[in-house]
Parts: sequence; C-alpha cells; structure tokens
Amino acid sequence: MALLKIAKLGEPVLRRVAEPITPEELASSEVQRFIDDMIETMRDADGIGLAAPQVFVGKQICVLELKPNGRYPWSPALPLVVLVNPAFTDLSGEPIPGWEGCLSVDNLRGQVFRYPKASLSALGRHGERITLEAEGFLAVVLQHETDHLLGKVFLDRMTDLSTLTHQREYDRYWKSEESTPA
Ligand code: NI
Repeated sequence: MALLKIAKLGEPVLRRVAEPITPEELASSEVQRFIDDMIETMRDADGIGLAAPQVFVGKQICVLELKPNGRYPWSPALPLVVLVNPAFTDLSGEPIPGWEGCLSVDNLRGQVFRYPKASLSALGRHGERITLEAEGFLAVVLQHETDHLLGKVFLDRMTDLSTLTHQREYDRYWKSEESTPA
C-alpha cells in the first residue's frame, strides 16, 4: 500500500465531475489497490472520509470511517465503508448547520447547512449493492463526500461566509459548540 498525495483547493481535479466505475474496472487489481491506498491515506491524514478526486483520480469512489480522532474528537463510530458510484435516494428534513473541514482545504472550518437525513445507494468494493440510511453527522459526511464527486467543496455550500474560521481560531472560540454536531 502507498500513501497518496492529497489534492488541495485550486487543483482542477477537485472541480471536475467524477466518472462512474464499471464493474470490470472495479474488479481490477489496479482499482482494488487504489481503494486500499485511499483507505491508508485517509487514516494517515486523520480523515473521516476521502473521495477519489481528492487524490487526483476522477472516479466515483469514496471511503468513510468514523471514529473519534484528533480532528473529530466527538465523532460517532462507523466501521470502514467503501462507496462506489454513490447516489442519494432521499435527502430530507430541515437543513441544519454544522461545522465542516476538508483535507483538501487546509486550516479552515466553516458552517454548512446539510440535510439531517440521507438515504444512499452505492456499490461496495466487490460490486455488492449497499444501501445506507444515515442521520446526523453521518448524513453530513455522506453529503460532503459525494459533493467531491460532483466537483464541489464545502465552501460552495456555505451560505454565510462570516463563519469561515482558521483552525486555530476555531479551536479557540468555536470548538465547544461541536458537542452537538449536525
Ligand atoms: Ni472534503
């Protein structure tokens, strides 16, 4: 396995719509190795999710793994999940604000309104059908990661840029709000 370079804001790959993966591509040793590398890269960066465009690959693959860590000490736990060609089947509820950051956007946090409930359909890494029913923080993470596949970053979803905060100031003034993440 190998650590992959993370694309930072301004890289054109972050702004392109990612392509779906065919079953043949997914089964290839090349893509399977790439998925392993994405997982290793996410864990190394203390991330809770990573989308393929964030490592310079314009394909519809996301990896997620939620557990409390240095960047998200209050995160709920979700075992590792690989989502290929994900699509929401439902997004519902009144959008609520929560703080977000991104491995492709260094040193910034901002409040984003997201749907509190999400249903998603995808393929797993071996082509199996996955459906996820998510609420709260997991629903937010799903919306954040699938946005990367659409060429969007959380900054595009901010409706009030006055909440944009450097990490140090976030830690100083706003972190305590995060005991109840969106
Ligand atoms: Ni991100």
